[in-house]
Amino acid sequence: MKNIKLLIALLALAALTACNNATQQPQQTTQYENPTIATIMERRSIRAYKPDTIARQTLERIIECGINAPNGQNKQSWEIRIVHNPAIFDSLKTIMADAYPDKAEMTVGSFRGAPVMIFIARDLNYDFSAYDCGLLAQNIMLSAQSLGIGSICLGSPVRFINDNPACAPILQRLNFSPNYQLSLCIGLGYANETPDPKPRNKAKAQFLE
Ligand SMILES: Cc1cc2nc3c(=O)[nH]c(=O)nc-3n(C[C@H](O)[C@H](O)[C@H](O)COP(=O)(O)O)c2cc1C
Repeated sequence: MKNIKLLIALLALAALTACNNATQQPQQTTQYENPTIATIMERRSIRAYKPDTIARQTLERIIECGINAPNGQNKQSWEIRIVHNPAIFDSLKTIMADAYPDKAEMTVGSFRGAPVMIFIARDLNYDFSAYDCGLLAQNIMLSAQSLGIGSICLGSPVRFINDNPACAPILQRLNFSPNYQLSLCIGLGYANETPDPKPRNKAKAQFLE
């Protein structure tokens, strides 16, 4: 009987220790300290995608994460258009392709084959709106990464659409408010490549000792 009581006490102690370890230890994912750092460090720009589209509910969650980004005075100086319907996306691409039929790579190719495209416009009447949109974009890309979805931030199609009058119908279709200017595109989709990280210059950050 004494031995059984001792055994139960030892088992209880072992369970308690295991429980404490579980709450004290940070969750390990790959070689990183925690899932947030893993998400940041493992995100890469994806330029090859599977054709699969992303579930509407998942896109809504990603956008919700996006708009929870910090932003100046909580003005939320962005407007967002999510193009997830392939027919609509194709119609926008056709406008670009028709504008320069012999330069498909420069126009349609600038979307990098992502099946879902998020167009972000900034409020030209707010001096911090570019930062707001950048932070929104990063929240979108990191939340996508955390859900196993690849992303790419795109400036080339923005320049092309804004600078070419032949692309005006795209801006009409996106229907941003007056004083809002298309500023970023974010491509989303399931990655069909695993690019290596690009080198970063740590010397750009200096501690003042
Ligand atoms: C504002 C901005 C514009 C970008 N525009 C393009 C682009 O037009 N085409 C492209 O392939 N990548 C574009 N990128 C992706 C960058 O090339 C990429 O983030 C950078 O090379 C670092 O690689 P990583 O994202 O894999 O870490 C852009 C990124 C940012 C932030």
